[in-house]
Amino acid sequence: MSTGPLSEHAPARPPVTFARLGEQKARRQPIAMVTAYDYPGAQIADAAGVDIVLVGDSAAMTVLGYDSTVPISVDEMLMLTAAVRRGLRTPLLVADLPFGSYEVSDEQAIATAQRFVKEAGADAVKIERGGTSIERARAIIAAGIPVMGHVGLTPQTAATLGGYRAQGRTAEGALAVFHSARALQNAGCFALVFEAIPSAATEAMMPLLDIPVIGIGAGPATDGQVLVFHDLLGIYDGHAARFVKRYAQLREPMISAVAAYADDVRTRRYPAPEHEYSMPATETQLLIGLLPEPAHPRGAITGPSPSPAKA
Ligand code: KIV
Repeated sequence: MSTGPLSEHAPARPPVTFARLGEQKARRQPIAMVTAYDYPGAQIADAAGVDIVLVGDSAAMTVLGYDSTVPISVDEMLMLTAAVRRGLRTPLLVADLPFGSYEVSDEQAIATAQRFVKEAGADAVKIERGGTSIERARAIIAAGIPVMGHVGLTPQTAATLGGYRAQGRTAEGALAVFHSARALQNAGCFALVFEAIPSAATEAMMPLLDIPVIGIGAGPATDGQVLVFHDLLGIYDGHAARFVKRYAQLREPMISAVAAYADDVRTRRYPAPEHEYSMPATETQLLIGLLPEPAHPRGAITGPSPSPAKA
């Protein structure tokens, strides 16, 4: 493994603050957010200069192999968030509270959010839905932890929404999304995620919201965009939603690289002399004299000889 301190040659940028996100919205300067789930992913997002890194519970699917975001545990999310924290210097770090870790009561929500701040170093947490999540958001914020809301398609409760599908495609549906968004804003959320909402509905709502709105499948009118790391890099093998834009197709070159390595191992092309450590010849001779005689000289066949029929 190559080692070295975090991007030591990158010019220092001032850390992103909650106030700066508001300023970016006011200046119509789009906010770039991306997910990350580990130390190298965080380093890449940091070096790329994004504004917000989200440790999304999409980790359940992209890195842990579950078939939805529902099963991921608080401990799994804490471990991933702490790894991302170690790789970040500049972007704001937001962590998703996983399904089942905040819905029961304000006390449960505060206790879980505090773990993400204290144990994993998150700057803020994200929770999904309107409804009871509005009170949970208010409680977490009152306890001193910034909250990002998430409306539209909320994958933790996709089953109640009729599956992974766009929300707010009727006037009534879009109004319900808006009421949730505004209630979360009034509860004190510093920002919102709009997921899978028709662009026209988003555009109609945007002038009525004062906090930054980050879209994913919500069109161009939002104050920023978020994409899942594995989707934008083309690493994940699963189904890609309509809104995903692939900026690279890294899965194939990654498979080719590992296959080339395995082939090199099998054909003894790796390691080559440049990968080896040397030792003075005199020391090698000394060592050979000090070692016991090998019981079986190198290359000798020690097992039963293969039967002619099987050979
Ligand atoms: O979990 C996640 O990655 C998310 C983003 C898609 C917003 O919630």
